[in-house]
Amino acid sequence: MKPFLTVSALNLFSFASAVPYAEYILAPDSRTLFPVSVHNSNGSVSNAETLTSPSGSAVFEDDAATAYDFGKNIAGVVSLNIGSVSDSNQYIGVTFSESSLWVSNKSSDATADAGKDETLWFHLTAPGKYSAPRDKERGGFRYMTLVHNGTGKVEITSAEVHFTPMPHWKDDALGNYTGYFHCDDELLNRVWYAGAYTNQMCTIDPQHGNALVHLGTINSSVSDATNVTWYYNYTITNGSSALTDGAKRDRLVWAGDMAIAVPGVVASTNDVISIENSLNSLFAVQNRSTGQLPYAGRPFPSTLSFTYHLYTLIGVTDHYLYTGNLDYAASHWSEWKLALNFSLGFIDDTGLMNVTSPPDWLRFGMGGHNIEANSILYYTINQGIALAEALNDTEPVASWQATAEKIKSAANELLWNDSAGMYIDNETTTLMPQDGNSWAVVSNLTLNSSQIESISTKLADRWTPYGAPAPEAADAISPFISGFELQTHFLAENVTAALGLMRLQWGFMLDDPRMTNSTFIEGYSTTGELHYAPYLNDARISHAHGWATGPTSSLTFYVAGIQLLSAGGKAWRIAPSLGNLTVADAGFSTGIGFFSAKTQMASNGGFQIDFETPEGTSGEVKIPRASCAGNIVLEECNGNHGTLEIEVTHANAGPISVADVPGGKWKVTFDCV
Ligand SMILES: *[C@@H]1O[C@H](CO)[C@@H](O)[C@H](O)[C@H]1NC(C)=O
Ligand SMILES: *[C@@H]1O[C@H](CO)[C@@H](O)[C@H](O)[C@H]1NC(C)=O
Ligand SMILES: *[C@@H]1O[C@H](CO)[C@@H](O)[C@H](O)[C@H]1NC(C)=O
Ligand SMILES: *[C@@H]1O[C@H](CO)[C@@H](O)[C@H](O)[C@H]1NC(C)=O
Ligand SMILES: *[C@@H]1O[C@H](CO)[C@@H](O)[C@H](O)[C@H]1NC(C)=O
Ligand SMILES: *[C@@H]1O[C@H](CO)[C@@H](O)[C@H](O)[C@H]1NC(C)=O
Ligand SMILES: *[C@@H]1O[C@H](CO)[C@@H](O)[C@H](O)[C@H]1NC(C)=O
Ligand SMILES: *[C@@H]1O[C@H](CO)[C@@H](O)[C@H](O)[C@H]1NC(C)=O
Ligand SMILES: *[C@@H]1O[C@H](CO)[C@@H](O)[C@H](O)[C@H]1NC(C)=O
Ligand SMILES: *[C@@H]1O[C@H](CO)[C@@H](O)[C@H](O)[C@H]1NC(C)=O
Ligand SMILES: *[C@@H]1O[C@H](CO)[C@@H](O)[C@H](O)[C@H]1NC(C)=O
Ligand SMILES: *[C@@H]1O[C@H](CO)[C@@H](O)[C@H](O)[C@H]1NC(C)=O
Repeated sequence: MKPFLTVSALNLFSFASAVPYAEYILAPDSRTLFPVSVHNSNGSVSNAETLTSPSGSAVFEDDAATAYDFGKNIAGVVSLNIGSVSDSNQYIGVTFSESSLWVSNKSSDATADAGKDETLWFHLTAPGKYSAPRDKERGGFRYMTLVHNGTGKVEITSAEVHFTPMPHWKDDALGNYTGYFHCDDELLNRVWYAGAYTNQMCTIDPQHGNALVHLGTINSSVSDATNVTWYYNYTITNGSSALTDGAKRDRLVWAGDMAIAVPGVVASTNDVISIENSLNSLFAVQNRSTGQLPYAGRPFPSTLSFTYHLYTLIGVTDHYLYTGNLDYAASHWSEWKLALNFSLGFIDDTGLMNVTSPPDWLRFGMGGHNIEANSILYYTINQGIALAEALNDTEPVASWQATAEKIKSAANELLWNDSAGMYIDNETTTLMPQDGNSWAVVSNLTLNSSQIESISTKLADRWTPYGAPAPEAADAISPFISGFELQTHFLAENVTAALGLMRLQWGFMLDDPRMTNSTFIEGYSTTGELHYAPYLNDARISHAHGWATGPTSSLTFYVAGIQLLSAGGKAWRIAPSLGNLTVADAGFSTGIGFFSAKTQMASNGGFQIDFETPEGTSGEVKIPRASCAGNIVLEECNGNHGTLEIEVTHANAGPISVADVPGGKWKVTFDCV
């Protein structure tokens, strides 16, 4: 039970009662955290376990160390309260690790390309409180090891961490979610909340981004070093919070990562200001003459990535889709068009964009008429058309439409391999990538549903016991690209495949003992080793990466089935798809109001959907396929909009869609006759 359920009546009133299923929320209810258990200990440490409380007494003597476990991934500034020292020349060192693999009394896990990060040493001259400087907070760790060296004794009375993520939220309301999800599969419930928490862990004080002091200087020649320095002292965005790629690293703004993180944020915390601060930081360094946007935000060196350039543009159209705030989109519109024109300038006479600079999500072979990049371009253009129409700037629309149609026909002509039933990476290869095939479906580059079904089937055929592989990145499993694969299975209407992949891959990422049981890892190997092909240094892998949170939005948007079609949900679709679940219940808020849908399947084939959408909106209800003949009744709970009855004449009819349903509280029931 979370403590805030019993603390004060005020807390109960302010959010615990308002947030359903709050017992699943992993965000702490106070910023002051203590370890929950001892992981292991060496040398003479007495009463090590007393540091799981705010007033303990652990005595470290001579060479000794204890590794503490916080039970989940956390982040923040460590303080030690020292009760006594045997003399004025004692030291306690602190090391950190997200994974149990890198627990050590010599070093932390890593933030650089090689080596391990140095121990944080406190020189103890007298009893008192010793706190790390703010640029020595640690951005993600589940394990914290306290090390005593030399001779002598130190009594530690507490080892606390001041939790620093979500800096702009109230200290005692970090679990004040606007969204929730619940179903009758506990693993999926934990996955949803771990995704929400991962994005909170990646939301940092922008004054404490990574300074990248070792970029390009530390390489495999220093791979044994246990003293690599790290500084979280670079200001990466304006404002008081920023959504970054990862809690431990890079702690930088990456637009590609946001394509998965942002919908997850919307479905859980609706923390729009952090998204805006991050997007603004990318436009702030746009090249005003060419329109080129950065690969990553400051201080990452200027680099051209065809895909991340477009992901920044998707960031703006997503912002409009999820908030309905046209002013924000308008404020970036001229920069947006300039940047799109930059990409369109690489379209050659085939009709496809020729990628001439390889950086992407660290896959190899990103070049030429690449299917992923062209799908993303196709998607961006279509999003841009919708935004141009909302802004009444219709001048570019006809030309964008023609360009998009040409991309679609050329991609299908040149890159679709009909016998394989998938797209190839480019015309010179037989490699069929996970990213481009998933993105082709997500972007609607496909011409028909049989292509979508084929891609879904072929992708699922490739799963290993640890998840969906990305052959375009050697032996990697990419939780980022697998987030798009999830959407692909939902769009193929194979909910079994989508839920199967969540249970397999995200279940592994939660439950494996090397993981944090709370946040999702950046990448790993197809064999389940925690080695990520693009990196030489396994200790560097981030265990809290927003790009790995795909299930959070997918469970809300596809399983509970609450879909925003335009402008913050002014147009919406309710389309529950439960697979083998018997109940799915979700809700979230956007700038225009609250959306929810709860679907319950009865054992006799009947079902009930209770949903709510804001007044003044309208949408479509896509009613699940009925397993028997019967009657569907749609009724508005306040009686404002009457009742609609639909007769289902035979089993497996449908799915039946009802269009132009006005916003409000509705109940849909289906009973077999
Ligand atoms: C204790 O020693 C073992 C074996 O060398 C090591 O794996 C472990 O990390 C050490 N733990 C601490 C807290 O020093
Ligand atoms: C303990 O570690 C500190 C920090 O590295 C160092 O200055 C000190 O000399 C060490 N003490 C002994 C006895 O090794
Ligand atoms: C929780 O969030 C809502 C808005 O989503 C806000 O009105 C409320 O003040 C917040 N509560 C606390 C305790 O921060
Ligand atoms: C870190 O260790 C390497 C070799 O292990 C050494 O060359 C370097 O001087 C050390 N740096 C510091 C700051 O101690
Ligand atoms: C961050 O701290 C390091 C070490 O003190 C320093 O070299 C670097 O200049 C600092 N960077 C910024 C942006 O303050
Ligand atoms: C085409 O794709 C293959 C496989 O990904 C890759 O090796 C090759 O470099 C790509 N071609 C270009 C021009 O990038
Ligand atoms: C893409 O452009 C590069 C650089 O201009 C050129 O060398 C390459 O042949 C082009 N690729 C294709 C597939 O046209
Ligand atoms: C676009 O035009 C419509 C119809 O004239 C108008 O209602 C709307 O306010 C305009 N929107 C903008 C952003 O100017
Ligand atoms: C997908 O594209 C086709 C045209 O190729 C269009 O008819 C269809 O409406 C699009 N589907 C969606 C969901 O946008
Ligand atoms: C859905 O995907 C699963 C694999 O997870 C597969 O066994 C099944 O045949 C697929 N169903 C359809 C209708 O394609
Ligand atoms: C993982 O976390 C869940 C809560 O999210 C908890 O119930 C479970 O016991 C934890 N599992 C392990 C192995 O610690
Ligand atoms: C659905 O099926 C999966 C895999 O077969 C199983 O693990 C899960 O428990 C089932 N869930 C429910 C709610 O029946």
